[in-house]
Amino acid sequence: MKKVLIDCDPGIDDALALALAAGSTGSLDLVGVTTVGGNVDLPLTTANALALREFLQMGDVPVTPGSAGALMRRTVRATAVHGLTGLGDVVLPAPVRGPSEGHAVDFIVETLRSAPGEITLVAVGPLTNIALAVRREPRVVEWARDLVIMGGSYTRGNHNPAAEFNMLADPEAAAIVFEAGWTVKMLGLDVTLSAVVTSAVLERMRPLGRLADLLVPAAQFYGVVSAEGGPAIHDACAVAYLLDPGLFTCVPAVVNVETAGQYTRGMTVTDFRIGDREANALVATSLDVKGFWDLVVGTYERLAVRLG
Ligand code: BDR
Ligand code: CA
Repeated sequence: MKKVLIDCDPGIDDALALALAAGSTGSLDLVGVTTVGGNVDLPLTTANALALREFLQMGDVPVTPGSAGALMRRTVRATAVHGLTGLGDVVLPAPVRGPSEGHAVDFIVETLRSAPGEITLVAVGPLTNIALAVRREPRVVEWARDLVIMGGSYTRGNHNPAAEFNMLADPEAAAIVFEAGWTVKMLGLDVTLSAVVTSAVLERMRPLGRLADLLVPAAQFYGVVSAEGGPAIHDACAVAYLLDPGLFTCVPAVVNVETAGQYTRGMTVTDFRIGDREANALVATSLDVKGFWDLVVGTYERLAVRLG
């Protein structure tokens, strides 16, 4: 069983990533969820994580709120994509239980300290909490079994031509994380844009009972679903990577995050020509799309049986 701590900003695709983790109880041991301001403001990302914890029956996994905003930059949000609440037009039952006491950065540091070498960090929002954890206690880099992020790209941006949203939302945090001394598993737009909910995929989600009440409207809000295309559920790729890394082709690279550019801030400048330098990232370059959906839908099917 892989122990996993997910840092997220739900967020439609974050919700679908949490659903994938919730359905993977035989393979993943979710030790905590931390939230960060990103797609929407922190109170909303936290409220969504709490509602998802109960809706997805994730038990007593602690949900701990973290950083509200970027280290240095003005706030960037993605409400145009995720809706004003962050979950499109999905309204989940109000959660009964609240967040854990304390701050996500402390939770990350203390959780990793308590089990060195065991816990994989998965970050699918702006990297503010992870950067602060590294600054606060540099040994988290040694203690983490792995760091897997959804973010960046070596070819393009989505928020603008240069930058992917999670990197653009807090470029200085991203730079700290890439420079910290670990090998970041970077699942960027280069692969996540192929994880799209086509109408064929949506048809596989429709029979999933209560879970379908989340998945189907969320996907439809997130983008136009058609036979050829649909919305990319970026963040689910990071959880899928934990479940089956073989779905991804990954190549070592040196990645630097642009923090000074006038038009390129947040760009992940990726150099595959490493030479005698040490790679700081393993960058995903392709995804087995059929295998991905078989894994994701199969897991959702098992979760749906549990949820009724
Ligand atoms: C990333 O940005 C957010 O809007 C999504 O939740 C995902 O983490 C994709 O660029
Ligand atoms: Ca996200």
